[in-house]
Amino acid sequence: MAFDIDRYTQAATPVTWEDLDYEVFRGHPLPPDTLRTLRYMCEIEFHTVCYLRDMLVSPSRKDPEVGTFMTTWNWEEIWHGEALAHVLSLHGITVTYDQLKAKRMKLGWRDRLSPVKQSLLSNIVGIDFVAVHMLWGSINERSTAAAYKRLAALEDSPVLGDLLRRIASQEAKHIAFYTTQARARLQDNPRAQKLARLALRTAWQPVGSGVSPEAEVDHVLRHLFSGPEGRKEILAIDRHIAKLPGMAGLNLVAEALDSRGVPA
Ligand SMILES: [Fe+2]
Ligand SMILES: [Fe+2]
Repeated sequence: MAFDIDRYTQAATPVTWEDLDYEVFRGHPLPPDTLRTLRYMCEIEFHTVCYLRDMLVSPSRKDPEVGTFMTTWNWEEIWHGEALAHVLSLHGITVTYDQLKAKRMKLGWRDRLSPVKQSLLSNIVGIDFVAVHMLWGSINERSTAAAYKRLAALEDSPVLGDLLRRIASQEAKHIAFYTTQARARLQDNPRAQKLARLALRTAWQPVGSGVSPEAEVDHVLRHLFSGPEGRKEILAIDRHIAKLPGMAGLNLVAEALDSRGVPA
């Protein structure tokens, strides 16, 4: 899988969402379970700025391709948040970017790594650090795309389905970037492979945990990934990650669901 960073940044546009007929929600509002999940998704999209902030103080910032990608990526994610916030607002739920940004600037994936930071991160320098970052991003973007796909399938709403599929097609580009980078950086680098494996096994949790209340994380995972159809998506994520250099046998996402009691 090749990734053309110039083409990506030049072709990037905010997700097109304003043309959809949101008026249908006035007559046919979305059910509470779906709104709860959408709110979580919206907050996580807005939270992306914290990941950008984390990157700016890590060795990743020194890599021109990663830095370029993350600027455009952050901008696309904020528009995903805006689109979802609009759907929520039609149901009387207000989520705003500025509010969340203020609340959440202190949290991010480096905080998530903090328990292992002392013993581990001090040893991760330069390219190895970036490898961990890229692998982490690959899992999270795949999880996000799977979540949108599942919600579109579960909810019988053509308008919501269209919106979620449009967002998911941008997530597919994010997956391509992180995965291409992770593969290249892990290839022939046993030290990076070992560190990445250890960091993920120790610190990775489903997207949104650590920044959202545990009850909300559990709700979203159960809502979207219970049963065989949901589990199929999760196993596909683990399968893709296991194909990366040194990652064979890693089943992080399925294990996270099992440990939270999400039925397969
Ligand atoms: Fe997104
Ligand atoms: Fe994304």
